[in-house]
Amino acid sequence: MSQTERASFGSKLGMILATAGGAVGLGNVWRFSYMTGDNGGAAFICIYIVSVLLLGLPCMICEFIIGRHAASNTARAYTKLSNGTAWKWVGYLGVLTGFLITGYYGVVSGWCLEYLYASATGAMKGGPEYFADYFKEFSANPWRPVLWLALILGVAHYVIIHGVRNGIERASKILMPLLFVLLLIIVVAACMLPGATDGLLFLFRPDFSKLTSDVFLAALGQSFYSLSIAMGCICTYASYFSRQTNLASSAIQISVIDFLVAILAGMMIFPAAASVGVRPDSGPSLIFITLPNVFEQAFSSVPVVGYMVAVMFFMLLGLAALTSLISLHEVSTAFFQEEMHITRNRAAWIVTLSCGVIGAFCSLSLGKLDVLSIGDKSLFDLFDFVTGQIFLPIGGFLTCLFLGWYVPKKLVKDEYTNWGTQRGSLFGVFYFLIRFVCPTAILAVFLHQLGII
Ligand code: PHE
Repeated sequence: MSQTERASFGSKLGMILATAGGAVGLGNVWRFSYMTGDNGGAAFICIYIVSVLLLGLPCMICEFIIGRHAASNTARAYTKLSNGTAWKWVGYLGVLTGFLITGYYGVVSGWCLEYLYASATGAMKGGPEYFADYFKEFSANPWRPVLWLALILGVAHYVIIHGVRNGIERASKILMPLLFVLLLIIVVAACMLPGATDGLLFLFRPDFSKLTSDVFLAALGQSFYSLSIAMGCICTYASYFSRQTNLASSAIQISVIDFLVAILAGMMIFPAAASVGVRPDSGPSLIFITLPNVFEQAFSSVPVVGYMVAVMFFMLLGLAALTSLISLHEVSTAFFQEEMHITRNRAAWIVTLSCGVIGAFCSLSLGKLDVLSIGDKSLFDLFDFVTGQIFLPIGGFLTCLFLGWYVPKKLVKDEYTNWGTQRGSLFGVFYFLIRFVCPTAILAVFLHQLGII
């Protein structure tokens, strides 16, 4: 396909919503709010904002530059800019990371559908132990999670085969506003509960005594994960940007949306939890065990509201997961389509089927096939660990070095300023950050995660 025929986003709004949809995901709900609550409330939020500004944003702009400049899938984009030198492998790493995550992210996305179904049909009733058992039994079940995985991958597939404008962009324009509306309704319902203020205070009261070096590194890691950096998603979507898109201001808008969703998620979780005196935890147990129980108890005087909140909550999670899953799917679909010179449809099938198989194995590793473990990690945890904690920081680190030190500065500046048509204020700051600050910070997070520092 020649460059002029290449797909692109049709409108600025569609582009922002699609890219923000890729970034806004389960991490905004199950990780951010918990980390904030546990690491000093507003003090953590301040550090998080600084790490988005100093690390997340510049890395996002790097991927925008690489993707838009090359107007091709992530592997080819790095290959083009590196003139075929070894730097191209950073692009391949991005595609591989995206590909490997798709399956396991699909599994968790599928769980959201099961819970949406279960809460809609009234099966989500029964107290704390019931919810804990329900989750344990369900996630270890050999076929139910796999069926939900197939369904959500099928939906992502359906969107993808309709192309960038008619598929991804159109879906994002519906799903993202819906996500916001659901989020706002639940926040209002949660904040009206008795005792809700305690939850808000817990979330927003700054406690500087909790700020240790661990917290700083956790905030850096979270900003990276939340913005979907180094997974190929941002770079792939940027390849559909127009030459008029202001990269820096788009990155800011997307980060603001991502941040807002995270804060609002906290404003729904903490007040509800405080009203029933439960302490929220993080990860899958927060959304699949603790919160269903919290919603049931918090709204026990008006069960119909509790019912609706639970249904809306899992719908919201399903939407957040779906838009991220679509962005992950697109990374590999664009790759197979362009590298194997096949149709989009065929490429999408390759991705859906292979990621479906990977996801099914991940899911089974939590139950029937627990032989699929290496050390004390199930295949599921292993995928999470290898992609999130190893590939992601390596990819981000190398991307900054690539753009900061290898790619000619003029090219970077031309993309940043849209060939001199925009002022490009802060270019100097951006360039300094990606050359020195980001690689150092990412290295620190990486070594910290591995327990080396
Ligand atoms: N940014 C997503 C989140 O916050 C995580 C994710 C990373 C999703 C990469 C897709 C791709 O949940």
